[in-house]
Amino acid sequence: MSNQESELNLPVKEKIVPESLKTKTIDPKDYLTFHKLTLDNNLEFWESIAKELEWFKPWERTLDSSNPPFYKWFVGGELNASYLAVDRHFRSWRRNKVALIWEGEPWDSSPREVRKLTYLDLFREVNKTAYLLKSYGLKRGDKIGIYLPMIPELPIFMLAAARLGLIFSVVFSGFSAQALADRMNDAGAKLLITADGGWRRGKVVQLKEIVDKALEMNKSIKDVIVVRRTGSEVRMEKGRDSFLHDLMSQVPNNAYVEPERVKSEDPLYILYTSGTTGKPKGIVHDTGGYMTLLHLTMRQVFDLRDEDVYWCTADVGWVTGHSYIVFGPLLEGATEVMYEGALDYPEPDRWVSIIERHQVSILYTSPTAIRTFMRQGERWITKHDVSSIRLIHSVGEPINPEAWRWFFKLVGREQVPFGSTWWMTETGGIMISHTPGGYLVPMKPGTNALPLPGIGAEVVNEEGKVKSGEKGYLVLTKPWPGMPLTIYGDPDRYVKVYWEKFPGAFYAGDYAIKDQDGYFWILGRADEVLKIAGHRIGTYELESALIQHPSIAEAAVVGVPDQVRGEVAEAFVILRSGVEPNQGLKDEINRFVRDNFGPIAVFKDIHFVSKLPKTRSGKIMRRVIRAVASNSPIGDVTTLEDEASVDEIRNAYKEFM
Ligand code: WTA
Repeated sequence: MSNQESELNLPVKEKIVPESLKTKTIDPKDYLTFHKLTLDNNLEFWESIAKELEWFKPWERTLDSSNPPFYKWFVGGELNASYLAVDRHFRSWRRNKVALIWEGEPWDSSPREVRKLTYLDLFREVNKTAYLLKSYGLKRGDKIGIYLPMIPELPIFMLAAARLGLIFSVVFSGFSAQALADRMNDAGAKLLITADGGWRRGKVVQLKEIVDKALEMNKSIKDVIVVRRTGSEVRMEKGRDSFLHDLMSQVPNNAYVEPERVKSEDPLYILYTSGTTGKPKGIVHDTGGYMTLLHLTMRQVFDLRDEDVYWCTADVGWVTGHSYIVFGPLLEGATEVMYEGALDYPEPDRWVSIIERHQVSILYTSPTAIRTFMRQGERWITKHDVSSIRLIHSVGEPINPEAWRWFFKLVGREQVPFGSTWWMTETGGIMISHTPGGYLVPMKPGTNALPLPGIGAEVVNEEGKVKSGEKGYLVLTKPWPGMPLTIYGDPDRYVKVYWEKFPGAFYAGDYAIKDQDGYFWILGRADEVLKIAGHRIGTYELESALIQHPSIAEAAVVGVPDQVRGEVAEAFVILRSGVEPNQGLKDEINRFVRDNFGPIAVFKDIHFVSKLPKTRSGKIMRRVIRAVASNSPIGDVTTLEDEASVDEIRNAYKEFM
C-alpha cells in the first residue's frame, strides 16, 4: 500500500463501537480534554506514573532541560531494570507465577518444546547469568553484544546485563556478518553472546559462522559465549569462545548478584536503527524514563492484568521486542508467550494454534503478519478457537483498513479493542494509540488514534500546524520519558536528525494527517527509510551492500509498494564496464546482499541500467525512480542532469514487469 493509496481510502468518518465496549468508550472530545490536562501538568503527570515503580533512591528533579535536546528524566533517582522486572515479582506472590511460556519452532505432530519459566526460575537464571558475566571482569558501563535467536537466553542475558549496569546492544539474528560487525565496532562491545544456530522454517541458521566472519572485521570483542540451541557442529576458537553450558556448570545454583543501583539517566541499552544516510544510528535509551514509559503503556495500551496471557509476535532483536517482550511485560509481572520461529511454520495456522494452546488474551502483532494470514485464508483461523483473545494491537507500519477489518472480524470477533500503535525505536515506547486500559475512544479501521496521556504530538509543515485532513510531518512537541539520551558517539547527529527541522520539537520522519476528531493517521516514512515487512532498513544501507559486489559500479535503491510486505526494495545498478548483465548475475547479486546484509534485504527486482537519474550535483533522485516504478507523475525534473536516464529506468522497468 503506497502513501497515496492509504491517504485516499482513509475511513476517517467511520466509527466503530462494539456493543461489548459501549460503556467503556468515550467521545474523542472528552479524551482530548483529559489529554490536555496531562500536557498542562506534564511533569506532575509523569511523576505520578514514575512513583508507581520501585526506586532505590527517589529522584530530585523530574526533568532536567538545561541542555536541550539532551533531556534527562528523574535526575538523582536510582533504580535497576532487572530488579524491577524480576526481583520485585520474585519477592511477591508472583514468585510461582509463570513469566515466560516459550515455544520452540520444531514441530512433529505438535510442538516439540514448550518451556515455562516462573518468576522464581527467571530470578535464578538471571542471577546465575549475571554472576557469569561478572566473572569476565565486566563492570558497570561496559558494553556487550547479544546476537541470539528467540530463545529464553535472550531476555535472560538482557536482564543479567541490566542487573550489572552493563550496556547491551542486541543485534537482530536476521542480520548478517557485515551488519553485526558494524554495530559491534560502533558500540565497542567487549563480549558477544551468540548461539550455535537458530531455527527458522525448519532450517538451521548458522549464527556462529556469521559471528566468526563478523569478528574478522572487529577488534573490540575479546570473548564469545555460545548457547547450545540446534546442536550444530561449530568452530570454537580457543581462548575466545566458550559454551554457555560449560561455563554455567561452574556457577553455583543459588548465585545471587546484588542489582546495581544505576542512575535514572544511565543508559540501559544501545539499539541500532536505520536512518537516511550513513551507518545505522545507535539509539541510546536511559533507565528511569524508559521504564516509566513502559509502565504507562503496558497499563494504558495493553490493559494488562494478572490473569492475562500476553503475546507479542515481534523479534526481540527489534525495539518492539525490547520494550514489549522483555522490559514492559516483565516489569508488570505478566505471563507471556515467546515463540521462536515463523508464525506460519509448519502450517499457516501455527500462530492460531499458539493462541489456542496457551489461551492468549492479548495479541500484539504486525500488519505484514495479518496480510500474510489474509492471503493464506480464513479457514486456518476458523479451525481453532480464538475466543480467549480480548485485545489486539498492531505495530510497525500503517495497517490498511481491509486488513484491519478482516482481522477484527476473524480474531477480534467484532468485539475486542483493536488498535495500531505508533512509535519508533527512538521513542522507546508507544506514543499514539488507542488506550483500552484507560479511556477508550471509538475505533476506526487503520487509524493510530490519539496521543497517549502525557504525550504531545502534532502534524506540521514548514509554516506550522497543518489543518485537519491535510498531510504534514509528524512531530512530538514535548520531551517524554523514554526518549533517547543521544545517538551513541554522535550527539551532533542526534540534534541534526531529530531536532533541527522543527526547532523545539522531535521530528519523527513520518507523514501523517490528523482528522476532524483529532485522530492521527500515520501514512509512512517521509525519508529514504524503507519498511520491509515492518523492518526498518535504509536505502543507503542496501546501496552500500550492493556496491561492495565486484561487478557493480553504482546502485540506487527505492521502496515500492507490496501487497503483503507493505513495501519491498527495488534496485537499479550500473555494472562495471565489461560485465555482462544476465539472470545468473542477478541471482548472484541477490545472494551476495543476503549473505552480507541479511535475509531481510528482499529485492523485488534488480534492474541493470547504464545511467541513474541524478541532480547536477550528483545526488541520485530516488523520487524520480520511485515515480517511474509506481507509474505516477515524475514531477519537477529541472535539476536533473540527464533526462535520458529517466527513459532508461522506464525501459528497465517495463522489461521486467
Ligand atoms: C512506522 C517500530 C504506521 C513508522 C516500533 C515509524 C508505523 C517506523 C506504526 C519506526 C503504526 C511504526 N502505523 N506506521 N502503528 N508503527 N510505524 O524504529 O514509519 O522499527 O517511523 O519502530 O515504523 O520503525 P521502528
